[in-house]
Amino acid sequence: MIRHFLDIHRLTPDQLRAILDDAHARKRARKGWPLGRADADAPAKDRVLAMVFEKNSTRTRFSFDAAIRQLGGSSIIATASDMQLGRGEPVEDTARVLSRMVDAVMIRANQHEDVENFARVSTVPVINGLTDRSHPCQILADLLTIEEHRGPILGQKIAWVGDGNNVCASFIHAAPLLGFKLAIACPSDYHPDLRDLARGGPAVTLTSDPEEAVADADVVVTDTWVSMGDADYDARLDAFEDYGVDEALMERARPDAHFLHCLPAHRGEEVADAVIDGPRSLVWDEAENRIHAQKSVLAWCFGAF
Ligand code: CP
Ligand code: NVA
Repeated sequence: MIRHFLDIHRLTPDQLRAILDDAHARKRARKGWPLGRADADAPAKDRVLAMVFEKNSTRTRFSFDAAIRQLGGSSIIATASDMQLGRGEPVEDTARVLSRMVDAVMIRANQHEDVENFARVSTVPVINGLTDRSHPCQILADLLTIEEHRGPILGQKIAWVGDGNNVCASFIHAAPLLGFKLAIACPSDYHPDLRDLARGGPAVTLTSDPEEAVADADVVVTDTWVSMGDADYDARLDAFEDYGVDEALMERARPDAHFLHCLPAHRGEEVADAVIDGPRSLVWDEAENRIHAQKSVLAWCFGAF
């Protein structure tokens, strides 16, 4: 059975917990080491990771490359526009070919179905590096960050304010598996996909009122109002006008509440400078934790635990 990492809801609670625990342990074990040194167990020694990008990326690209190196492996990176994929070669044929050349493939795709179709025929593990529907690697880094600063995620309240987008969907997928509460505030036209809300079950609540969502929250999270691929820029800026996370909204959360954002951020839109650059913000730890979380995804895909 090939271990793909396509969406958090496809994992069991034990698998998700094991990936997070491995990430905590790996990060602790290499504290203070040079970034290019491999972990002691080097679980990806002699392995090659391919990365395929149909959309732009800074964090995902660099963190996966750093991750595979720290596991003792190496990478090959390409944008889809440089590949025959960009000229219409089917994703399935691309998957068949890459499966003969590398040990795992990470894909950032426009259409979620393309990642599913790639994985269906791939004979090596496939990792979802963001699609229009989800961003599971991001949420692992977010959970790692929350647990580092606030302890076990079980029972905590996370407030999501803004677009019910791909990143929000992966938070929804994680909530019932790990037993945290997720309160989402978004305009009615931009709510999460109903299939995702059904997966979240009673762990997830939905409102159009940001103040209601952040009340007593341990962590407040937001993301861009206009994701890659969204065409309705002006309509979105209008719809989300009252959903910016500023200091006044943070005051409604718990007094020690933290702020997360997957980045890139748009200061003055979804988040005020004073929040993202202020003392409650964990966004730089969150970005670094992409490396640590993805190392454990890769190690899990390779059967290291
Ligand atoms: N958060 C995130 O995935 O960033 P990039 O788009 O830069 O990879
Ligand atoms: N929701 C954003 C996340 C970027 C990391 C997007 O899809 O563009």
